Amino acid sequence: MSDTSIVNTSSVSAPAFNGTENFVLEGRTILVTGASSGIGKAVAILCASLGATLVINGRSAERLQAVLDQLYGTDHQMIIGDLTEVDTREALIEAAPLYDGLAYCAGAASLAPVRMANEKHLQQMLSVNYLAPANLTQRLLYKKKLNTGASLVYVTALASRACPSASAGYAASKAALESYIRTLALEHGKQNIRATYVAPGYVDTPMLESLGTMIDMDKQSELTPMGKIESTDIAPGVVYLLSPASRWVTRSILTIDGGLSIAMRL
Ligand SMILES: NC(=O)c1ccc[n+]([C@@H]2O[C@H](COP(=O)([O-])OP(=O)(O)OC[C@H]3O[C@@H](n4cnc5c(N)ncnc54)[C@H](OP(=O)(O)O)[C@@H]3O)[C@@H](O)[C@H]2O)c1
Repeated sequence: MSDTSIVNTSSVSAPAFNGTENFVLEGRTILVTGASSGIGKAVAILCASLGATLVINGRSAERLQAVLDQLYGTDHQMIIGDLTEVDTREALIEAAPLYDGLAYCAGAASLAPVRMANEKHLQQMLSVNYLAPANLTQRLLYKKKLNTGASLVYVTALASRACPSASAGYAASKAALESYIRTLALEHGKQNIRATYVAPGYVDTPMLESLGTMIDMDKQSELTPMGKIESTDIAPGVVYLLSPASRWVTRSILTIDGGLSIAMRL
């Protein structure tokens, strides 16, 4: 007979400090862009569930209001507007006295082979995916709107490294943002302001659906070894980077791609 003792874990009371509080966002004010859809919506819902007070942004008033109505807690605000416009960005900056976090989830994807990727296409990708987050960040810093310990998290894309066909504009705009974030982290680390990015593979959102009309996205998604990724699979990664649990993490990339980058030998 074995003498291995069996501990009935149900009789063990939880210690006063068990580390779970590191994952809570209680008392934090977080700005979430792209909150009207897909990944940003999932991030907003999870942040609010963990106690954060949010300022959310999107262009669709109807969809943004529906997200606001779903958020746990009170005192959340929504600001409708296009992030490529200065007025929207200034309204977001002024909506809270100080921010503890930014979850920059807004973005747009449009595909064009290099032969068709004209200046208008490239400008559009850069304007939405690079200039808008860069300009918003600059104003948050310039106007001293970030608390000590603030965490800035940006959703970029595996595409910046994978560079699939027809993604020259999109992938380059995300690569530009990633370089910006790395400089940002370096310049503001001493102020205890962190900057990180989450790079998803294919995620089942309205964006992927709209790309599906341009190319056979089902076939592309099948390349993901671990299967289909949902917005709610990306949100915990973003929330980890916003939370005190990641307080020593900066200038880092968190790839959430279900193994797609392994399959691509990246
Ligand atoms: N889905 C994927 O496979 C995938 C993969 C890698 C990276 N990403 C990145 O993940 C992020 C979220 O994408 P998603 O898949 O969740 O797409 P989505 O469902 O289409 O959501 C995009 C969000 O960005 C907002 N947005 C777009 N352009 C904007 C602008 N000019 N001003 C303000 N808001 C704007 C949209 O607002 P409205 O809808 O209200 O206009 C929406 O809330 C993007 O940065 C995307 O590049 C997605």
